[in-house]
Amino acid sequence: MVKYVVTGTTGGLGSQVFKYLLKLVPATDVIVSLYNPSGATQAIKESGVEIRRGDYGDPASLDKAFAGADKLLIISYPSIAHELRVKHHKNAIDAAKRVGVKHVYYTSLAFAGDSVAAVMQAHIDTERYLKESGLTYTIIREGIYSESYPLYFGFFNPADGKDEVIIPHSDGGIAWVSREDLGEGTAKLMVEGGYENQTLLFSGSRSITLKEVAEKISKLLGRNVQLIVSTEDDYVRANVGKHGPRGEEEFLRKWATTYKALERGELDVVDPLLQKVLKRELKPFDTTLKEMLGLAGSVMDLYAK
Ligand SMILES: NC(=O)c1ccc[n+]([C@@H]2O[C@H](COP(=O)([O-])OP(=O)(O)OC[C@H]3O[C@@H](n4cnc5c(N)ncnc54)[C@H](OP(=O)(O)O)[C@@H]3O)[C@@H](O)[C@H]2O)c1
Repeated sequence: MVKYVVTGTTGGLGSQVFKYLLKLVPATDVIVSLYNPSGATQAIKESGVEIRRGDYGDPASLDKAFAGADKLLIISYPSIAHELRVKHHKNAIDAAKRVGVKHVYYTSLAFAGDSVAAVMQAHIDTERYLKESGLTYTIIREGIYSESYPLYFGFFNPADGKDEVIIPHSDGGIAWVSREDLGEGTAKLMVEGGYENQTLLFSGSRSITLKEVAEKISKLLGRNVQLIVSTEDDYVRANVGKHGPRGEEEFLRKWATTYKALERGELDVVDPLLQKVLKRELKPFDTTLKEMLGLAGSVMDLYAK
């Protein structure tokens, strides 16, 4: 019997991993480590799995949460605060080592190993720390969520009626992939084993530029949505004060480095591995886009083929 401990299962990616893990192994083999156990979802509560408290900021809680794990999934901490994020990940890795976890899986991100994107730096530091830990590891560079397209596509919001989408520096291809496919793939990878001490990429099966995203949205909405590649200052001016914390100038300037990474083709990488693990086609980006625009299953599907 293999014991699985999975973190982040209340979140977007972790909830998908959890869902698919339970299709593959009995609930008695699964333990969820939750930051906030009282926030356990209905799916977790009804599954019969053991629920433990594991806060990345509280090492003692992690020792208890990870105890007895053969395989541990560390879902990365959702923050852009570099130092805090790395500290949290180091706490999880250190706890895994203390309690003798046999195989650690870490969800990294699809940018390059020498990325210029600010968002990748905490993952690069974590990957290095994990590799040097002496633990058996598998680093999964999870592809860019199709569901997160507005973050890359100038915070596009179809409801505000604006047809000009400004990005800084450069457009580039992105091998978008759905969070559900990533979750299923991550669960299968953990159960099937292998890939010890390797860094893998789970990407979508085709790369689509932001200009192509503009064309797809234009077609779907019957509007003329234009991608404008402009200066960083223009990008900041267009977004500052909007989108909650993402409208803070500090965030916007950091996020602008993403487009320098696009220019280098960092996300323009298609790896067949996820399709191989899932043994099926991946969910197309266009399907997620339609769902997010509220058009899936609508008259558009029936008559606008
Ligand atoms: N690949 C991509 O395109 C992409 C896009 C966006 C983000 N990401 C990153 O990928 C990771 C997972 O994404 P996601 O969509 O699943 O994020 P998410 O929905 O924000 O989920 C994050 C999970 O982390 C848990 N958490 C929060 N604080 C914690 C702590 N102190 N200790 C332990 N767990 C804690 C949350 O628990 P609670 O529910 O209790 O708060 C939640 O379960 C995040 O790091 C996210 O930033 C990737």
